[in-house]
Amino acid sequence: MNILLTGGLGFIGSHAATVLAEQGHQIILVDNLCNSQIEVLSHLGQIIGKQPIFYEADVRNTNLLNSIFQKHSIDLVIHFAGLKSVAESVTNPLKYYDNNVGGSISLLEAMQGAKVNKLIFSSSATVYGVPQYLPYDESHPTVPMNTYGKTKLQVEEILRDLSHADPDWSIVCLRYFNPVGAHESGLIGEHPRGMPNNLMPYVCQVASGKLPHLNIFGDDYETKDGTGERDYIHVMDLAEGHVAALNFVNQHPGFHAINLGTGVSYSVYDLIGAFEQAANSTIVRKVQPRRSGDLAIYYAKADKAKNLLGWQAKRDLQVMCKSGWNFHKQKS
Ligand code: NAD
Ligand code: UFG
Repeated sequence: MNILLTGGLGFIGSHAATVLAEQGHQIILVDNLCNSQIEVLSHLGQIIGKQPIFYEADVRNTNLLNSIFQKHSIDLVIHFAGLKSVAESVTNPLKYYDNNVGGSISLLEAMQGAKVNKLIFSSSATVYGVPQYLPYDESHPTVPMNTYGKTKLQVEEILRDLSHADPDWSIVCLRYFNPVGAHESGLIGEHPRGMPNNLMPYVCQVASGKLPHLNIFGDDYETKDGTGERDYIHVMDLAEGHVAALNFVNQHPGFHAINLGTGVSYSVYDLIGAFEQAANSTIVRKVQPRRSGDLAIYYAKADKAKNLLGWQAKRDLQVMCKSGWNFHKQKS
């Protein structure tokens, strides 16, 4: 198939690109590089064995997208492009609605114009909000606590409406939990610009001496050791989940929201322990007050992905930490 990947040079998009290319799909990448580096393209080329087709373009530029759809006979789109900082979304909501919601509408218009109606959308576990029960299943109420989560939910609602209006659309919203780790080659991985917000990239920078210590945002939660618990998922498992979703989308019209998580939660201390073993180093840490907006614990009910997509995560926390560290070492 000819598959258009928006945000294809980003963390998750680039890993999905490797798996899709390995499966023999023709991949066409679009990215405006607002949160990725052009070097990812040549690294992808090294992994895949040929340079993927790439357009430096913003998904809000519908005319440019129209021309890309005209040039390539696209069968399906995977829409990764989006901004993802929870903190920034709260201080700059217009930027997030414009990019994440406006960008999605622009893409959908271009898809409609080109009569492409198969879509996989990068949604997030953030759409659920405060857990009313755990694990979160896909029927859990969706009450996101921040602007970023609201943009994801709004796009899901637009997609649901679109599929009601035109039943020929096939749409899968994949609600990712906490992706970490990197491709086994160490050539691509998570490379945040500036100070990392997320736990794993921060831990890597402490291990390599770039940052003096890890701040632990609260050790007084009602969790097994007082620190926050999350459902960390290896980015290659997540990438493989997209291939499973692609096979599903090809055969099932309608709108479907599906969790991609492992179903297991690990605490901040669990992750640090696994990382210390994987990297054979000690992570200096300081307990700080809770981070505003953080939840104590959440994790996925992963049954729907298993039943509908025939997919489940395979890689454990050790592999996540080892591969994440391997990428970080090679890059620094
Ligand atoms: P990322 O920032 O590494 O990748 C996103 C890519 O999209 C970047 O390369 C960026 O340059 C590009 N981009 C952003 N806006 C664009 C635009 N208007 N036009 C073209 N390109 C644009 O993030 P990621 O971790 O790979 O996340 C991919 C998707 O998954 C995002 O939509 C994100 O919200 C979602 N998601 C991520 C996580 C996570 O923890 N990483 C969790 C849940 C959902
Ligand atoms: N944490 C620390 N210190 C840090 C960073 C994080 O103690 O320096 C803790 C947090 O308090 C939390 C856990 O580590 O308990 C995980 O935090 P992350 O920032 O890595 O991840 P979040 O669960 O807060 O959010 C992430 C992404 C969101 C996405 C969500 C999906 O940032 O964009 O996962 O589940 F929507």
